[in-house]
Order: sequence, then structure tokens, then C-alpha cells
Amino acid sequence: MGLRRRRWILLPVALGLLLVATTASVSSGWPQQAAPVPFKAQDEDRERYQRPSDVLKALELSRGDWVADVGAGNGYYAQHMADLVGPTGKVFAEDIADYAIDFLHQRVKMFDLRNVEVAKGTDDDPKLPANSLAAVLVMNTYHHFSRYEPMLEQILKALKPGGRLVIGDYSLPDHRSQSRADQLKIHEIDPERVRAELGRAGYQIVRCEDPFLKRMSELKMGDRIAEADMWLMVAVKPE
Ligand SMILES: C[S@@+](CC[C@H](N)C(=O)[O-])C[C@H]1O[C@@H](n2cnc3c(N)ncnc32)[C@H](O)[C@@H]1O
Repeated sequence: MGLRRRRWILLPVALGLLLVATTASVSSGWPQQAAPVPFKAQDEDRERYQRPSDVLKALELSRGDWVADVGAGNGYYAQHMADLVGPTGKVFAEDIADYAIDFLHQRVKMFDLRNVEVAKGTDDDPKLPANSLAAVLVMNTYHHFSRYEPMLEQILKALKPGGRLVIGDYSLPDHRSQSRADQLKIHEIDPERVRAELGRAGYQIVRCEDPFLKRMSELKMGDRIAEADMWLMVAVKPE
């Protein structure tokens, strides 16, 4: 069989495999495998179920800022932050999971993100440069912080005075009387608990929108929003 004819036969097979892989990754929620990365499918729905434009606005980024996306996952927010801080700025796209670090490297390569540095942290230290960040985003990740005290301490150290910490996460009012550990098990965290944790760590709370988005139980795929309301908190490192 000629090479050209074989290519035409293989093309639909390759497209089919890509579609199956993409659908499988998206319908199971957060993708757990490293390839292929369903960037498009992950991104298109976000405005509806996470209001990323408003999340990014809350960071109040300027050109040239150094910033971090802690628990960056596949790097959706890190990429938008990179766009907002521009070529003279820098984004630390940090995560602790190897599969996320793979996603982040793939995204950096695919979109040629020269102002994004992929950083591997640990569950008690995001390993960010001290006293240098204008803003840090922790989106849908705080509910993973079992060691929240050292994490908050390290993020505070990394922020410049006046720097902002924006946290978005999920919680249903009915679940808020549960212990911290029990809430973490269902991937939720009460914003009032987080407010107190931030206060004890030395942050000043600027505002908390609760709910930032009401639960959308009709969603069968997407993100945590099918199970819980989303809240958004903004805090600063005191000057
Ligand atoms: C649900 S994903 C959210 C990803 C991304 N923020 C987003 O909204 O698309 C949570 C991410 O947090 C990461 N993670 C969990 N604990 C962490 C920690 N202590 N520090 C940094 N990342 C963490 C996980 O590996 C995972 O990639």
C-alpha cells in the first residue's frame, strides 16, 4: 500500500483515539493521565462554572508583576496570568503532583509561554522566591492543604508587602459544621474556617464572596460546581 493511501486510512483512526481520550479525561472530572492534554475542552466551559475572568480580576495584576499559581494543575490560570503580566513579568506555575508538572511543561511548550516557570513544591512549601510576588492564586486547591499552616506561612513570605492572595474553593453550607478533615475528604472547605486560618497566619482579609457561584447540580461534567457552591476570598500581606 502506498504511503499516501496509508496516511488517509490512519488519519480517522488517530482522530477517533484523540476524541475518546479527550472525552474520557473530561467526563471523569480532573484528568489523571499525562497525555493528551484536553486544553480546549477544559477551557471552554470555565467561564460558566468558575467565572475565571472575575477570578483573574481579583488578582489585580499589572504588566511586569511576578506572580504564582499554587496548585496550578494543567496551567489554565497560569497561562492567563502570563498573558496579563506580559513578557516583563513572570508566573511561577507550581504544583506538587508529577502529572500536573507534566501538564504544565506541555502547556508551556505548546503555547510557547516564555514568562512561565514550572515549579515543583511539596505539601508544606511551594518553594517560591521570598518577598517578590505581587499576587498568588490558589484555585480549587486550598481544600487539599492538610498542612495549611506552613503553606500559608511560605506564601506570606513569598508575597511582597501589599501583595494579594486570592483563594477560590467550594463548600456547601450544610457541610460546614463537619471537621476540617471531613470537609477535605469531600473536596470542600468552609470559607469562614479559611478566613480564620488566614487571620492567624497574618493576612488581612479584603473580601469574601460567598457564594461566588451557586452550585449547578445540573452539570454532569466540568468541575466541583456540580457538587458545591463556589466561594472566592481576597487577602493581602500587610504593608
Ligand atoms: C483540582 S486541581 C486545581 C488545578 C488548578 N488550580 C485549576 O483550577 O485548574 C488541584 C491541584 O492542586 C494540587 N495540590 C494539592 N496539594 C497541593 C499543595 N500543597 N501545594 C500545591 N499544589 C497542591 C494538585 O496536585 C492538583 O494539581
